[in-house]
Amino acid sequence: MATRNNIVLALASLGAIQPSSAETILGAYIFHRHGDRTAKSTPPASLTDLGYSEVHAHGSYYNSRYVANSSEAHILGLGSEVVKLSQLAVSSPSDNVLQNSAAGWLQGLYPPVGGAANQTLRNGTVVEPPLNGYQLIPVSITSTGSGSESSQWLQGSTDCQNAEVSSNNFFNSDIFKSYQSSSLDLYQSLSPAVNATFTEDELNFKNAYTIWDLLNVALIHNSTDSNAALANVNTSTIHELFLLANVHEWNLAYNSSDTVRAISGAVLAGQALEALNETITSNGKSKLNVQFGAYATFLSYFGLAGVASGNPDFTGIPDYASSVAWELVTNATVSSDGAFPPTSDISVRFLFNNGTSSSSYDLTAYPLFGGSSLEVPWDDFVTQTQKFAVTGQEQWCSVCGNTDSSCASNSTSSGSSTTTGTTNSKGSGISNVVAGVIGAMVTLGVVLGLEALVLLASGLRLVRKKTLAAAAAAGATSSTSAENVGAEK
Ligand SMILES: *[C@@H]1O[C@H](CO)[C@@H](O)[C@H](O)[C@H]1NC(C)=O
Ligand SMILES: *[C@@H]1O[C@H](CO)[C@@H](O)[C@H](O)[C@H]1NC(C)=O
Ligand SMILES: *[C@@H]1O[C@H](CO)[C@@H](O)[C@H](O)[C@H]1NC(C)=O
Ligand SMILES: *[C@@H]1O[C@H](CO)[C@@H](O)[C@H](O)[C@H]1NC(C)=O
Ligand SMILES: *[C@@H]1O[C@H](CO)[C@@H](O)[C@H](O)[C@H]1NC(C)=O
Ligand SMILES: *[C@@H]1O[C@H](CO)[C@@H](O)[C@H](O)[C@H]1NC(C)=O
Ligand SMILES: *[C@@H]1O[C@H](CO)[C@@H](O)[C@H](O)[C@H]1NC(C)=O
Ligand SMILES: *[C@@H]1O[C@H](CO)[C@@H](O)[C@H](O)[C@H]1NC(C)=O
Ligand SMILES: *[C@@H]1O[C@H](CO)[C@@H](O)[C@H](O)[C@H]1NC(C)=O
Ligand SMILES: *[C@@H]1O[C@H](CO)[C@@H](O)[C@H](O)[C@H]1NC(C)=O
Ligand SMILES: *[C@@H]1O[C@H](CO)[C@@H](O)[C@H](O)[C@H]1NC(C)=O
Repeated sequence: MATRNNIVLALASLGAIQPSSAETILGAYIFHRHGDRTAKSTPPASLTDLGYSEVHAHGSYYNSRYVANSSEAHILGLGSEVVKLSQLAVSSPSDNVLQNSAAGWLQGLYPPVGGAANQTLRNGTVVEPPLNGYQLIPVSITSTGSGSESSQWLQGSTDCQNAEVSSNNFFNSDIFKSYQSSSLDLYQSLSPAVNATFTEDELNFKNAYTIWDLLNVALIHNSTDSNAALANVNTSTIHELFLLANVHEWNLAYNSSDTVRAISGAVLAGQALEALNETITSNGKSKLNVQFGAYATFLSYFGLAGVASGNPDFTGIPDYASSVAWELVTNATVSSDGAFPPTSDISVRFLFNNGTSSSSYDLTAYPLFGGSSLEVPWDDFVTQTQKFAVTGQEQWCSVCGNTDSSCASNSTSSGSSTTTGTTNSKGSGISNVVAGVIGAMVTLGVVLGLEALVLLASGLRLVRKKTLAAAAAAGATSSTSAENVGAEK
């Protein structure tokens, strides 16, 4: 409690930059990275107490920006103390680190309210929610990116065949080969510090991210007693390893002449577009969408949306607890229960905060699409975003070249799970696309006769594994729906 108040006070004293008082924020879409976690190469990765504190503090910032009544950036009509679940949609892939980050962040966004959420029973008894009025907010599961924080190969968790092939092409490129040879001595010299995890064969640029990640985590958490060689990894070495990891990850996430590589950013763009559009067309019935995800998705979006071309800092991996936000802003006069102004009076502002490497929690606005204005008129935002966004299952199947599973037909049981998912999570028309995907195996191409049988058998096995996750998500969904059928007219 004391910590939270300190954070809120600290935020207030930072004098967060607020939009001009004429403006109204009509809604927002946030994409957020997790907090400090354990290393990917020691799976399963888990959110640490430090990471929990980080996401909680960033959630508190978003409270002070969008939720608090007193904020000039308060989202019009958003519940300012007690959460109204219909206004909010929060999602995460099935992943310990990301789901727990979402939960910790939400504790900051809507902190416990004491007696403000009390309910009175028929017999007059007043019930206060447990934990000083702790507010329960569901986090729905998107099926893309499952297990991404324990996965060393992020493109694998997109399940998009053409994107996997494209990212793999990086490893045959001249730029890769040149880094591979020029950095080999540096990586080999790390052996004493990382030999518990990496063999000498693995100590090269091909594993640039996971090697840096292991050392970065160790330099935050591991004592030198447990690994004396860590003391020899100095600041300039770790910085050099980080820059190499940035080159590695940027090139796996984006290539200007082969945009399918950035599929996760294209899907995010489609989800944000769909959700913001729903905020507008529903006159603000839904107001705030929040999705947790991996850094590669940020990089892919930064490439596609032309943010990185104007500012090379955006080719660097965003830090723990970083986030982007798309805000719907207007200068027109609006009443909180009235209709929204016409879309010609609504603009989108794109903002970014670099999490733990930023000196403040505050968001900074950046121009989109290679322009210079910090506000893009809604209609332009739609046109520009549609140039690269993937907005539906059919488009995803065609862009990715997937023909199996849910890309094969609508007539099987996967059809009904799609329907369930669509009603469940806003802005995630894509999320069920990959339920039951077979993955990289299929890129092997056409298989005949016995081979087909073998593939079918292993395909079924993989589908079954995925189906468990899908069933868990669908189970949550259908019970939500079931409760709603009973509770609402
Ligand atoms: C926030 O503003 C609304 C509308 O003006 C008001 O009803 C509500 O009491 C305010 N809440 C707080 C915590 O000030
Ligand atoms: C909420 O309920 C608790 C327990 O019944 C009670 O002690 C408290 O005074 C109530 N607070 C408000 C604001 O109603
Ligand atoms: C009122 O109802 C609640 C829930 O059924 C019960 O726990 C409580 O004892 C009741 N109080 C009285 C005074 O009957
Ligand atoms: C980007 O894609 C083009 C076309 O596929 C390829 O020639 C080039 O090597 C790629 N660049 C990198 C860095 O992978
Ligand atoms: C790793 O390197 C250290 C320092 O050279 C050495 O003491 C240790 O035995 C090595 N461990 C393994 C598993 O090779
Ligand atoms: C840091 O500690 C973890 C947990 O004990 C261990 O798995 C990992 O190998 C250590 N990392 C280094 C670089 O020593
Ligand atoms: C850091 O370590 C490297 C490799 O051991 C060494 O070459 C370099 O001089 C060191 N830099 C500093 C600033 O100590
Ligand atoms: C926004 O939603 C409306 C109503 O559902 C739909 O007709 C329109 O095509 C959508 N626009 C975009 C850009 O998605
Ligand atoms: C965010 O921070 C990381 C680490 O310091 C840096 O590499 C990256 O360039 C930063 N991104 C932006 C947009 O400033
Ligand atoms: C609202 O008006 C202010 C002051 O003229 C201007 O700076 C800002 O860009 C406008 N915002 C939008 C969304 O048009
Ligand atoms: C699924 O059904 C819809 C509506 O009938 C259709 O438009 C779409 O093309 C189908 N998708 C696939 C992958 O066949």
